[in-house]
Amino acid sequence: MARGIDVGTMNIVSAGQDGDDTVFVQQRNSFVEIEYSDMAEQMLSRSDVLHIRKGDQVFVVGDDALNFANIFNQKTRRPMKDGILSSEESSAIPMIKLIIEQVLGEPETPDERVFYSSPADPIDSELSTLYHQKTLDSFLEDMGYNPEPINEGMAVIYSELADSNFTGLGISFGAGMTNVCLAYYAVPVMTFSVARGGDWIDEQTATATGESVDKVTSIKEDDFRLDFTTDVGGVEGALAIYYDNLLDYVIEQISAEVNEEDVEEGLDVPVVVTGGTSSPAGFENLFEERLANASIPFSISNVKRVNNPLYSVARGALVAARSEEAQHEHEEPKAPEAEAAAEEAE
Ligand SMILES: Nc1ncnc2c1ncn2[C@@H]1O[C@H](COP(=O)(O)OP(=O)(O)O)[C@@H](O)[C@H]1O
Ligand SMILES: [Mg+2]
Repeated sequence: MARGIDVGTMNIVSAGQDGDDTVFVQQRNSFVEIEYSDMAEQMLSRSDVLHIRKGDQVFVVGDDALNFANIFNQKTRRPMKDGILSSEESSAIPMIKLIIEQVLGEPETPDERVFYSSPADPIDSELSTLYHQKTLDSFLEDMGYNPEPINEGMAVIYSELADSNFTGLGISFGAGMTNVCLAYYAVPVMTFSVARGGDWIDEQTATATGESVDKVTSIKEDDFRLDFTTDVGGVEGALAIYYDNLLDYVIEQISAEVNEEDVEEGLDVPVVVTGGTSSPAGFENLFEERLANASIPFSISNVKRVNNPLYSVARGALVAARSEEAQHEHEEPKAPEAEAAAEEAE
């Protein structure tokens, strides 16, 4: 049975099929380093806390990192930044590897197919996704999977636009990045990312208001809404300003890219917005309003909101993996020698 995994800057989510149900497993892509002590030992042994011990140091990884950080008065650290493996975090590789292993588990069959999300190269930074992608590839192979990258925006289209023949504009607003894909009958005609997302909103708001980034993030995730005018001056007012700014920025880039790509004119396409950053009430209305004013050569039939924005990319990766698997099952079975020769040639 094929699998899907979304490797995001803030959350890592796997998806698998169990009968008619899609099963998701999620972990926070973060960790904290604490001093080994009797108290730490007790807390770690009493639970199923994901951790690695190295001499006197203990790394608590995933969802529990935040609790341990609070109790031990430490800061959480993150293996990824701006959508890819962080070059500023020396412990990034072993930590993210542990999270991926926990979220995905062992393959059910040897060489089980897994599609993992990979961002498009950002158009507004020098970052390249190649190293990131190759590293994930080798983790998954070491675990016994047969991995294949899928563009994150394309995964959104697989997840949410099946009923429009996989035609439309899919946008994933994550923590580290925003990924955009325009597809026409499941063929991507334009994909790109920008190195801005929820983290950027939090950092800008923190700088503008003097609050800590963590405080801003929790206000934003708690009850922040975009569907009414917030008072100017506070954190919520600043959040609204940077949300606005992010949407304008993304739409500006879409308009620049579609004009450059010579996208067929006169299309009428649905748009789907997802990712954690699209969560606040009013987000898709604001986006629709802004998009309507932009100069783009096609028209928008509607802007769709998804049920669980944190799961779309993982679900899309699963849909793509399963549809590839189904195609293979329908193909004429090859003689084993021919298959081996074809693999050699790859
Ligand atoms: N309810 C919410 N309201 C606003 N932002 C949210 C909410 N829940 C999560 N987020 C933000 O969404 C981002 C994480 O979304 P996600 O799609 O998992 O990103 P990534 O794929 O980059 O890990 C973070 O910036 C987080 O603060
Ligand atoms: Mg994601």
